[in-house]
Amino acid sequence: MEHPELSREVARRRTFAIISHPDAGKTTLTEKLLLYGGAIRQAGSVKARKAAKYATSDWMEIEKQRGISVTSSAMMFDFDGYRINILDTPGHQDFSEDTYRTLVATDSAVMLMDCAKGVEEQTVKLFKVCRLRSIPIFTFVNKLDRAGKDPFELMEELEQVLGIRSCPVNWPIGVHGSDFKGVYHRDTRKVELYQGGNHGQSQVDVTEIDLDDPSLEQAIGKPYYDKLMEDVELLDVAGDPFDLDMILSGQLTPMFFGSASNNFGVEPFLKRFLEYTKSPTPRTSDQGIIEPTDEKFTGFVFKIQANMNPAHRDRLAFMRICSGVFEKGMSVWHSSSGKDIKLAQPQQFMAQEHETVDLAYPGDIIGLFDPGIFRLGDTLCTGAPVRYSGIPLFAPEFFCRVSPLDSMKRKQFLKGVQQLSQEGAIQTFKRPNIGREEMIAGVVGVLQMEVLEHRLKQEYGVDLVRESLPFRYVRWVDASPKPLEKLRLTSTTAIAEDSAQRPVLLFENEWSIRLAQENNEGLVLKETADRLEADAMM
Ligand code: G4P
Repeated sequence: MEHPELSREVARRRTFAIISHPDAGKTTLTEKLLLYGGAIRQAGSVKARKAAKYATSDWMEIEKQRGISVTSSAMMFDFDGYRINILDTPGHQDFSEDTYRTLVATDSAVMLMDCAKGVEEQTVKLFKVCRLRSIPIFTFVNKLDRAGKDPFELMEELEQVLGIRSCPVNWPIGVHGSDFKGVYHRDTRKVELYQGGNHGQSQVDVTEIDLDDPSLEQAIGKPYYDKLMEDVELLDVAGDPFDLDMILSGQLTPMFFGSASNNFGVEPFLKRFLEYTKSPTPRTSDQGIIEPTDEKFTGFVFKIQANMNPAHRDRLAFMRICSGVFEKGMSVWHSSSGKDIKLAQPQQFMAQEHETVDLAYPGDIIGLFDPGIFRLGDTLCTGAPVRYSGIPLFAPEFFCRVSPLDSMKRKQFLKGVQQLSQEGAIQTFKRPNIGREEMIAGVVGVLQMEVLEHRLKQEYGVDLVRESLPFRYVRWVDASPKPLEKLRLTSTTAIAEDSAQRPVLLFENEWSIRLAQENNEGLVLKETADRLEADAMM
């Protein structure tokens, strides 16, 4: 069927994730964005959900909250003619490989940081994944109502820690604490005055003064006026120019300053972000590049969420639409089975509820009922089969040797481990020299180990024995000058293989990785691997 509206729908779509370290204000910012979109009438509901979710760290409780986290995995709303899809990247204790995979389904990222803390650990990890895909990254420096680092220092930090140059789009006035005066918008040459007070529940009226307006000096006070003039001049000569091509290729990050909880700087940020950032991008398949405006429908599965009810094995598969038009009930070719399947009961996620969807377009996220047929990275398409170059496996950071308490239950144990590995909750490794029985589980976030233990017990009736291993890094061996046993490695480094029997090295520290590379010329190590048929090989 012809869809004349396809180009228009693609052009107005924006699909992105907010990446940040816990406590930088992601929940608050998300909530404010939804507020502007009219998706929620009152700020506070996302927060309430989060409070419910983190009231306990007990996995069972988190599992009970699953319905909630499903809803917040993708949020859709309209603003200024745009259709916006925000993908959630959980922080906190449920940080997992899922978080990384979600970034594969986005077209851009908003990097949020606390002005007093600058670039923090989790931001660095998420940034690296965005970098792999060269997606545009927009920086929002939050909590300007409180004392923070000098903004020039923050620009320096972006460059030193993340290796990305920045271009401030606006600039804060008064960053030492309670003296925050507002921001200067470099593109409009206007100062937006900070109103103070808590505007948390509503949108704020804006007071702007032109930079050349004589009343500005009085409005913000002479010392701040003088400092602003100095900064403006310095930025013009010393800063990077605004270059949209560089931004869209992920080489330059535009920087914004504001305060999410005070609703300050959020709307100017949102408007510029939506205008500058990309609509759904073309994606690479084994049949070449597919444009989002291609009539052929394509999409891929980037996340699989298990059912909260252990009595049911069905799951929810999240698909990102890449091209063409999605229609409820359509038949599509499914890459891992090689068969045609019908997409019934598709769901789309509004801010607070999910509802059945009839039509959807590239950039949109659809939840598909999954009786256990979907695999991460699966392509779904109409017409001739194509496959998107899968979702990579990301390096786990925690490793345990796992086995069933009752050796008679080994079969169920293997089945459960395979199932969880297919969902992408864990990765498995073996050390070939240590005996056939060993199974190592590797995860990105430590909570996933508890998930593994709990689900094996609940769903497979297996009591798990797990023993922590000291490794913190896995690297896939892309090329080696000699057999791995002959490499010069530190005594704490282990040789292992992943579930697709590809060679890997397990390291305890970065120093060992560096030594392995220095001492073995020609050794090529990678931080990610193709997902391949990793699951099928177990
Ligand atoms: P997260 O999702 O990134 O973890 O952060 P979240 O939004 O939960 O924000 C973490 C804390 O930072 C919250 O305070 C929140 O109110 C505060 N915050 C967010 N934006 C701003 C801001 O612009 N200025 C200031 N001063 N604080 C901000 P909390 O004490 O943990 O919770 P609450 O009692 O305020 O709800």
